[in-house]
Amino acid sequence: MKSVESIQLLLADYLSLPSHELFTRTAAAKRTLGDQVMVLGHNYQRDEVIEHADFRGDSLLLAKLAAERSERPYIVFCGVHFMAETADILSRSRQTVILPDLGAGCSMADMAAIEQVDQCWDSLAGILPVEETVTPVVYVNSAAVLKAFCGEHGGITCTSSNARAVIEWAWARREKVLFFPDEHLGRNTGNKMGVPRDQMIVWDPFQPNGGNTIEAIRKARLILWKGHCSVHQMFQPAHVDYFRKTYPDLKVIVHPECHEEVVNRADLVGSTEFIIRTVSAAPAGTAWAVGTELNLVNRLKRNQPDKRVFFLSSTVCQCATMFRIDAPHLCWAMENLAEGHVVNHIVVPDDEKAWAKIALDRMMAVS
Ligand code: 13P
Ligand code: SF4
Repeated sequence: MKSVESIQLLLADYLSLPSHELFTRTAAAKRTLGDQVMVLGHNYQRDEVIEHADFRGDSLLLAKLAAERSERPYIVFCGVHFMAETADILSRSRQTVILPDLGAGCSMADMAAIEQVDQCWDSLAGILPVEETVTPVVYVNSAAVLKAFCGEHGGITCTSSNARAVIEWAWARREKVLFFPDEHLGRNTGNKMGVPRDQMIVWDPFQPNGGNTIEAIRKARLILWKGHCSVHQMFQPAHVDYFRKTYPDLKVIVHPECHEEVVNRADLVGSTEFIIRTVSAAPAGTAWAVGTELNLVNRLKRNQPDKRVFFLSSTVCQCATMFRIDAPHLCWAMENLAEGHVVNHIVVPDDEKAWAKIALDRMMAVS
């Protein structure tokens, strides 16, 4: 093994390499590694990264691949930290998960800390028999320790493509759901399921009792954590209105992390995989305004030249943390691996892993 110092020096060397050299060297390292490695790429990754992926997809699909493809000893995860953690939890113990840049986090995941969730649970326990009445449901966009919290308290994880089925699972067991950390995915799912407004409350972790009266908490069926995605919250109802007015036949398709006012104006709502599938299957000549991350939309535009594909807002940028995975970091991670050096190994501690796996396995059984 090379020392950490020499690995850091090597990374600096990669940062100024021209893109064609990075491409060739990454591809060569991948060939050398052969079936030792599986490169997974989330739909939001840059072109220069996703072109090296063996599989690309949404959070659920990538989690399933990590769980099923046990024969590859190394998984290089081109996505964000929580996804790499999920891959580590679901993969076999002999498999090693690598995240090419450890700075690839998720601002939404950071909006719920375990201390805050523990405090919320304790507050609820002061009002209700919490273990019998509330199921914690955590969106996979969260730290492993929160998935472990759910596993330990009879709860479950969900993704943007199975939130409804998961909430149905939870309500079949207990009368209330504590849904975190994305308020919007929870609210949009609740709206679709016809949950009355006064039965969906918001839990603000910085307020006593989440900013709610005891009566409101007792009445609630869906308790929504006050968290959001910094990318999707930028889409506004006015963006939808503009496209509807300018292109009357156009369809609007958005991710469920968008605000309900955007989702309620859209024609279709779903995960990144659903968006890609739907637009790709649409007849030639159709027009689409797409409300999700820019890399995905630009690729969709290019791959569907017989359709008119628009990005829903000119003021929204890429996901800054997904963007951290770039060609130099990927090449650096792959070449190190080809030489027998594991960099940026993602390891979830065993005690967290066991409980988190229970929550993820419950979800896999529902999906
Ligand atoms: P998907 O589940 O659609 O892949 O979404 C992941 C994500 O981070 C969206 O912001
Ligand atoms: Fe997190 Fe939003 Fe980026 Fe998805 S798009 S990884 S939720 S910040």
